[in-house]
Amino acid sequence: MTQTITVIRGDGIGPEIMDATLHVLDAMQLGLSYEFADAGLAALEKHGELLPASTMDSIRKHRIALKSPLTTPVGEGFSSINVELRKRFDLYANVRPAKSFPNTKSRFPSGVDLITVRENTEGAYIGEGQSVSEDGETAVLTQKITRKGSERIVRYAFELARKTGRKKVTVVHKANILKSTSGLFLKTAREVAQLYPDIQCNEMIVDNTCMQLVMKPEQFDIIVTTNLFGDIISDLCAGLVGGLGLAPGANIGTEAAIFEAVHGSAPDIAGKGIANPCALLLGAAQMLDHLALPEQAERLRAAIIGTLEAKDSLTPDLGGEGNTMSFAKAIATRL
Ligand code: NAI
Ligand code: MG
Repeated sequence: MTQTITVIRGDGIGPEIMDATLHVLDAMQLGLSYEFADAGLAALEKHGELLPASTMDSIRKHRIALKSPLTTPVGEGFSSINVELRKRFDLYANVRPAKSFPNTKSRFPSGVDLITVRENTEGAYIGEGQSVSEDGETAVLTQKITRKGSERIVRYAFELARKTGRKKVTVVHKANILKSTSGLFLKTAREVAQLYPDIQCNEMIVDNTCMQLVMKPEQFDIIVTTNLFGDIISDLCAGLVGGLGLAPGANIGTEAAIFEAVHGSAPDIAGKGIANPCALLLGAAQMLDHLALPEQAERLRAAIIGTLEAKDSLTPDLGGEGNTMSFAKAIATRL
């Protein structure tokens, strides 16, 4: 196979975890080649803009990108680059698996194996129609939900269930209060669910879902929900299984797909070489699934799990004394 992917090394710990991830991918000898592109602070310094046209062209051309976290400068009138990428490529499905791993200091060392499928392009999260009154006393934000947006994300969740042999989809909403927006999402989800009689479907209100996730996470299989709820719930799920250092995410559209870690650029530990590379590596495993290489994806996941089980060179966030590169090398050895 020869497949070129766009690689964005990112900001803060980004370059460190990307070097570690590429070290492991190279060891797998998949025939992948990389086109490096800049985004975020690194791009601002080099090209004078956060998201240069050359980066957009690269993603458009190769349709697959592996991306480290990006820093969006605060209070300088820049909008989030991540939100911008999702918007420009219409990456409507944000797919975030959370699975129990050994030796992670998690409260659930086993039993959690769920995927949050978050709508990625609409709802309150995208910040449409934001304004603050002149006297600074009143703030307004529009929350727009469409049937089309709801339908395609719920379909994505059910198709994912079929493809991965999962049995249940939980539709998470707040239609009892947000009757128009969350109501339209729920109504559409019920219609879509009818088309998948082989997959069990249940509905849950978002606040109850949070409690249920903390008390009995093993009841969940696939969760599908709107943008802002999905943002919050997927971090909660990352917390169930050992924190942000182990949480990957895929942003998938029809024209392109971008694979990443859920966490940010971690300025507090940047440059120290101690960041956990697992979240981005697990994002790379999602990328291999997307490239129709499921055996290779499993091979990568198994090497990560084996390394966690052996407590070999784990990074400090997992209680180990290893560093980003020694951890990656231990994973590469187990492939
Ligand atoms: P963060 O996720 O960067 O850090 C939160 C905490 O988790 C920090 O204590 C950090 O050290 C720790 N952490 C994160 N990743 C880790 C890893 N791989 N290994 C070990 N520890 C890790 O979130 P924060 O501090 O809120 O944001 C920092 C910057 O990242 C901001 O500029 C934000 O805009 C950006 N960001 C970018 C994202 C992306 O590009 N996808 C997502 C979230 C934030
Ligand atoms: Mg988030």
